[in-house]
Amino acid sequence: MKYAFRLVDDDFDYDVLTAVTAYLDCEHYAWLHARNYSHYEILEDGPTTSRIIQHSKYFGITFKQHHFRTYLPPSEFMMESDKPFPINTHTIFTPRSDGGVHRSVDVSVDLPALLWPFRKLLAAHLRRYDARVYGEDAAAATRREKYLGKNNWAWAFRPYQFLLHKDAVMEAFRAEVAGLGERRFADEPVVIEPA
Ligand SMILES: [Fe+2]
Repeated sequence: MKYAFRLVDDDFDYDVLTAVTAYLDCEHYAWLHARNYSHYEILEDGPTTSRIIQHSKYFGITFKQHHFRTYLPPSEFMMESDKPFPINTHTIFTPRSDGGVHRSVDVSVDLPALLWPFRKLLAAHLRRYDARVYGEDAAAATRREKYLGKNNWAWAFRPYQFLLHKDAVMEAFRAEVAGLGERRFADEPVVIEPA
């Protein structure tokens, strides 16, 4: 039985590209979000689609989920997951006039009839789970801002950074990323030319 609901409508104090790079950065999931995602394994990284095995903990139980994800440039994402029952999510990041980002997430779950009476409880649990993960991302953005400056997503485009669909992101945010040629990565050592 299909149950569809708006999971969240919220705002963050950083720009759209910061939100997109956080979403697609494979390297932070298993440590920053370790409480919820203990394992994150990329099976396929196509131009705009990916297949992932992710271990997610709901109600204290770890589910080994297969995710099929689609990136709809510039800042929209679809996700299909198979366990504990089919779950689809649709995430949209939109720029706000004050430079921040708005996020909306729609969820659709295919519930077994037995779980139908608990659907509201399940939605509340998913909201808590989502709030924790995005709280961790927002805290990471604040830490990064302290050391690298606000909205510094340059790290995501370093050649050795594994960002899903990196080429498609660079194409979608061409104007912003073009400025990178002029911009030294803040964590690179400063080379002092001999006099
Ligand atoms: Fe994250």
